[in-house]
Amino acid sequence: MNNINEIFAEKLKNAFGVRCKIKFNEPMASRTTFGVGGRADVLIEPEKETDLAEIIRLCNEHNVKFYVFGRGSNILVKDGGIRGVVVHLAGYWFERIVINGIEIECGTAARLKAIEGEAKKNGITGFEFLEGIPGTVGGALRMNAGAMGEEIFNIVKTFRLMDYSGKISEISAEEAGVKYRECEALKNAIALSAVLRGKIGEQEKISKKMEDFAEKRQSSQPKERSAGCVFKNPPGLSAGKLIDELGLKGRQIGEAMVSNEHGNFIVNIGGAKASDILALIDFIKNEVKQNKGISLETELEIIGEDL
Ligand code: EPU
Repeated sequence: MNNINEIFAEKLKNAFGVRCKIKFNEPMASRTTFGVGGRADVLIEPEKETDLAEIIRLCNEHNVKFYVFGRGSNILVKDGGIRGVVVHLAGYWFERIVINGIEIECGTAARLKAIEGEAKKNGITGFEFLEGIPGTVGGALRMNAGAMGEEIFNIVKTFRLMDYSGKISEISAEEAGVKYRECEALKNAIALSAVLRGKIGEQEKISKKMEDFAEKRQSSQPKERSAGCVFKNPPGLSAGKLIDELGLKGRQIGEAMVSNEHGNFIVNIGGAKASDILALIDFIKNEVKQNKGISLETELEIIGEDL
């Protein structure tokens, strides 16, 4: 607990210690799909939305930074770890999935894989593109995650969010300020839940579509640890293809490597450090800028401190 002051830590323990899981000096590597990064001062798992609001209030009052985590599938935590509080959203309430006709109401920590499974079971089509995206609803909403030519906001009807003062509101997909891999409404707010809407479908056709998508993903994306695509696609182009054309696949710094399967993935081939991955990101950006005149922007969220 080296970087959080004692008074703040005591307050956290007193306020939440009974109901919520709290860990100090928590290693974050195992909490991200990349499998790299240092420790967080505090990791806390709120049980309810009111706990979440109270945690944010305490952090604000004590000037402590907080970061909201789901599955950690699009995040690179730096080697020096995180000074502040990681709020891990998980558990019964945040992971709930409720079917209501062709609508699925789900908590922010519900896994996309689980939602897609429920949709199939209940004969709801439109969710098949979620196949193989490793994140949660909250993470997907925050970055308008997509695959197979579709994106999450195509199936969002409404969603609830909490601003950094703890106030909860519900807005429609149209009001969210959505663009490619961007959601304006969630830049300074936390997604709490969403109502997703599909169409009535046939289970067999849904299964077939999911299998096709899974096959496409398996044949074109790596199996090693990664955080999905590192860069946003520049308008009208594929970042992976640009990187591939420059012959950068297989390029390695430390144990971070540009995937041989897909140029837009960096994989952790063993004991990569965040600094290896960051150096490789810079290297790729420079190569693409110099040789193609294009500035790549990261899709990956990079947080924490250098060592
Ligand atoms: N391509 C290459 N070489 C490569 C990679 C791709 O030539 O190394 C070519 C492909 O053959 C294809 C084109 O580039 O003709 C586009 O490739 P792909 O279908 O893989 O799509 P992408 O634009 O590279 C996007 C999403 C992925 C998603 C796939 C599948 C972004 C940044 N990426 O990739 O999402 O899984 O479509 O639909 O939008 C992610 O967001 O983390 C992610 C992995």
